[in-house]
Amino acid sequence: MSANTIAINQNMKQFDSHASVWLFGYGSIIFKADFPYLERRPGHITGWARRFWQGSHDHRGTPQSPGRVVTLTPQADAICRGMAYLVTPEVFAHLDHREKNGYLRLVTAIHLDHAGSVEGLIYIAAEDNAAFAGPASEQDIARQIALAEGPSGRNSDYLLMLAQALRELGTDDTHVFEIERQLLALQQADH
Ligand code: BEZ
Repeated sequence: MSANTIAINQNMKQFDSHASVWLFGYGSIIFKADFPYLERRPGHITGWARRFWQGSHDHRGTPQSPGRVVTLTPQADAICRGMAYLVTPEVFAHLDHREKNGYLRLVTAIHLDHAGSVEGLIYIAAEDNAAFAGPASEQDIARQIALAEGPSGRNSDYLLMLAQALRELGTDDTHVFEIERQLLALQQADH
């Protein structure tokens, strides 16, 4: 599949007649909500695990030195905690552009803290997209992140901001926290 997913996403008309739609953020959207929203609530989705398996050559890296950002991979027993935003459908046009490097919209159930379940959207970069980087050890992922920087800033800042946001959400994400630990060790060793 082509890395540019804008056209595919904009053909998804499922919620076009709705005045508002829930969007579940599990990555940068948790700490960088650069769009208007009507309401925001912590929550979770089930059956998906957050992984640093998507390559980034347009935001947190370059084609010469791609970074890594998170996507979701199916895992039956997984719970992925994040932040849900109630937005108007126009917000998706903005996100389709911001996340054009392989992310596709998917409809899923979102469990909102203290407010039941709703149907909404997530963005997923599946393994058949051209920028998919795939599994690697947490140490190798940290090494790659330590070197990468792109138009949106340092890949290490993305990792550290995500880890901090997940701590604030009270979630124990062993994958993200282990990569953070490895990155901090690399940064210590450099000084
Ligand atoms: C998110 O934070 O949910 C997200 C991350 C990457 C692309 C799209 C959405």
